[in-house]
Amino acid sequence: MLGPVILAASRSDRMRRFVSAAPGTKQVVDRFIAGETVDQVVPVVEDATAKGLEVTLDVVGEDITTVEQSYAARDAYLELIARLKELELGPRAEMSVKLSMFGQALENGHELALANVRPVVEAAAAIGTTVTLDAEDHTTLDSMFAIHEELRKDFPQTGCVIQAYLFRTEDDARRLAEAGSRVRIVKGAYKEPASVAYQDKAEIDKAFVRILKILMAGKGYPMIGSHDPRLIAITKELARQAGRNPDEYEFQMLYGIRSDEHVRLAAEGHRMRVYTAYGTDWYGYFMRRLAEKPANLLFFARSILTK
Ligand code: FDA
Repeated sequence: MLGPVILAASRSDRMRRFVSAAPGTKQVVDRFIAGETVDQVVPVVEDATAKGLEVTLDVVGEDITTVEQSYAARDAYLELIARLKELELGPRAEMSVKLSMFGQALENGHELALANVRPVVEAAAAIGTTVTLDAEDHTTLDSMFAIHEELRKDFPQTGCVIQAYLFRTEDDARRLAEAGSRVRIVKGAYKEPASVAYQDKAEIDKAFVRILKILMAGKGYPMIGSHDPRLIAITKELARQAGRNPDEYEFQMLYGIRSDEHVRLAAEGHRMRVYTAYGTDWYGYFMRRLAEKPANLLFFARSILTK
């Protein structure tokens, strides 16, 4: 019951101000956000890659309101890529972007987001890595998939995310499961209406498995973004049935969640990429993490009350 309430709050400016100013917030935010600046995230990347993990870096931010902010988002990623170049990690450090941070919801937003994300994808390719387009709420997805298709004409390795909770996703998976594609499958983290998305956890899990089967049987590169032990076991079995080697798909998990499992799966010989979010505009990202697990909210409430 709490999840939808927290997700609604994730879009409220009043709640944003309250949560951001509350004493004790930072302590909880730090669990999920790897730092505020590039300088702070670089050691986190070095530590993860030294442990045999890979990373996808997300400069947090979304739902911007001015064109200038969209340019700032582009520049933040370009600054990050300049630092990654020095680390020479190639595809072991890729990036995840949210197109709403690149101006997708502004006037002529589709064109603006494409114009902003293209130089980032170009710069990533120049250092031997790539970018994955995150999936936001369902109203943004046609534009995201169109931008993905456009970018893939020049940069075929550009990835995208599909969300198991949406009714549309099985069709998207069939369309995307082609040679050379990179597709991350996740359960879905936004508040979606019953007209477009499954609401029941068991239904979402079943849809996830159906989509996973499509991706595993297809010719693309599936990226499994989940911490769910059952889905991880099913992934291993489906990969085995499809005759895929461990380098023909990868697991992905979020920084700060089931960290022991990151290392354990990597030690088992799996590719494991940690979605590592950093930056100052963490509110939306943080609230989705609270919504996913009520225990996080209790911990958060306790840390505010005891400060
Ligand atoms: P589930 O929520 O059932 O969790 C399984 C177990 O994992 C829990 O029992 C708990 O132990 C642990 N866990 C999960 N979330 C936790 C949390 N917040 N705090 C503590 N423990 C937690 N969504 C989206 O809509 N668009 C996107 O682009 C992405 N991108 C993305 C990238 C990557 C790498 C991951 C892992 C996830 C996303 N997501 C996402 C988020 C995704 O949709 C989903 O909300 C979360 O992954 C939680 O779902 P699980 O599959 O982990 O299962």
